[in-house]
Amino acid sequence: MASPLSSATTGVLPMSLFRTKSIDAMLAMAREDGLKKVLGPVDLVMMGIGAIIGTGIFVLTGTGALTAGPALTVSFLIAAMACGFAALCYAEFASAIPVSGSIYTYCYATLGEIVAWMIGWDLLLEYGLAMSAVSVGWSGYFQSLMAGLGLALPTALTAAPGAVPGAHTIMNLPASLIMLAITWVVSHGARESARLNNLMVTIKIAVVLLFIGVGIWHVKPANWQPFAPFGAAGVFQAAALVFFSFIGFDAVTSAAEEVRNPRRDLPIGIIGSLTVCTVLYVAVSAIMTGIVPFANFAGVDHPISLALQFAGQNWVAGFVDLGAILGMTTVILVMTYGQTRIIFAMSRDGLLPKRLSVVHPVYATPYFATWTVGIVFATIAAFVPLNVLAELINIGTLAAFTLISVSVLVLRRTHPELPRAFRCPGVPVVPLLSVGFCLFLMAHLQALTWIAFLVWLVLGLAIYFLYARRNAVLHNQGG
Ligand code: ALA
Repeated sequence: MASPLSSATTGVLPMSLFRTKSIDAMLAMAREDGLKKVLGPVDLVMMGIGAIIGTGIFVLTGTGALTAGPALTVSFLIAAMACGFAALCYAEFASAIPVSGSIYTYCYATLGEIVAWMIGWDLLLEYGLAMSAVSVGWSGYFQSLMAGLGLALPTALTAAPGAVPGAHTIMNLPASLIMLAITWVVSHGARESARLNNLMVTIKIAVVLLFIGVGIWHVKPANWQPFAPFGAAGVFQAAALVFFSFIGFDAVTSAAEEVRNPRRDLPIGIIGSLTVCTVLYVAVSAIMTGIVPFANFAGVDHPISLALQFAGQNWVAGFVDLGAILGMTTVILVMTYGQTRIIFAMSRDGLLPKRLSVVHPVYATPYFATWTVGIVFATIAAFVPLNVLAELINIGTLAAFTLISVSVLVLRRTHPELPRAFRCPGVPVVPLLSVGFCLFLMAHLQALTWIAFLVWLVLGLAIYFLYARRNAVLHNQGG
């Protein structure tokens, strides 16, 4: 056992890049951080669903159906399996080390500082781009709703420069405004954010159930034939794409320090939200491809409402559009929340500037960090054409899932005695399956995505050596 619970460093080199933080010290710090313990298991499941159901189901399922045909249901199951195995690993960590910062914190306790920094850096990319990309999806739905009411925006304000070929666009105003509105909510308190989230998630689930309840009567089983017109390759490619639909359940773990009974409730939040969403996604994709022959989804970015219109249920389609807007709002909300808590944890460890972990005296939130995140990603949502970057979110998340699975194996070896309210079943097979599934899906992403991801990681390494390493709390403690 290289690292007893109380040691602040491990390994033969005290100055090692792989110095680890003591889990006891982390738990003690979490008890004194000033964040309010206000969240319960229902909040967490709702938070998970809030982060999961969004652009993936309301926008990407059309492309998914074109790629896999009716076998899109199988693609969803494959993506769910990759997430499910990783979720079991997350749950073990969350129950053992209920500290802000999610996988960043877990890696700091197991794989060492440089790996923790790189994964924190990776999460900044995942959550940040997801927030901005979903804001852009939100803006698309919002604009079509407003246009329906005769309130179309001037073209210049509808999208980032260059985002719409042939149109003169300057900025995506609605995308940046929704980001800033959500930043305001998140900066005003976890309880307030959770309340708003619970309300919107309830409506979002009701809309998805409405689609299932109405759509099921319009399914024509003949549309499911041929089931997998593009074979296994199409099914896997669609799985790598719709993986995006599941991103977000990991954000639940970032709430650890604001949960009343984290050891019990975090695993419930993670596994509960993922299970509910998997059932809903498989049902929705089966019904959607059962109503509309899949080829009709070409160029469609409202696949769910299209299916209802196809079935002659225009009034339900209107509700679905509203649900999509609320659905994406909660994704942005939970992602913003998760992003700020990871930054909070990294700053508290000295890897990012200290100001980012100052807690507001009244709202008890990392106020400065929240507004920094909000303003940066509102600007990106306004001015950067994000469709080119969307796959980066998937690769960033898959890399995080791979590391969490490896970390569970490491934690079992280095800290076998650490109390765990939840233990990942089937170790080492389940974590290894998780790694295998994630690498397999990563292999199905484009070369350009890999290049952009590697550039981001190299930039992260440079910042680590120039800033983070020297300013780390562990470094100043002589670690
Ligand atoms: N899972 C989230 C969505 O589909 C990111 O929007």
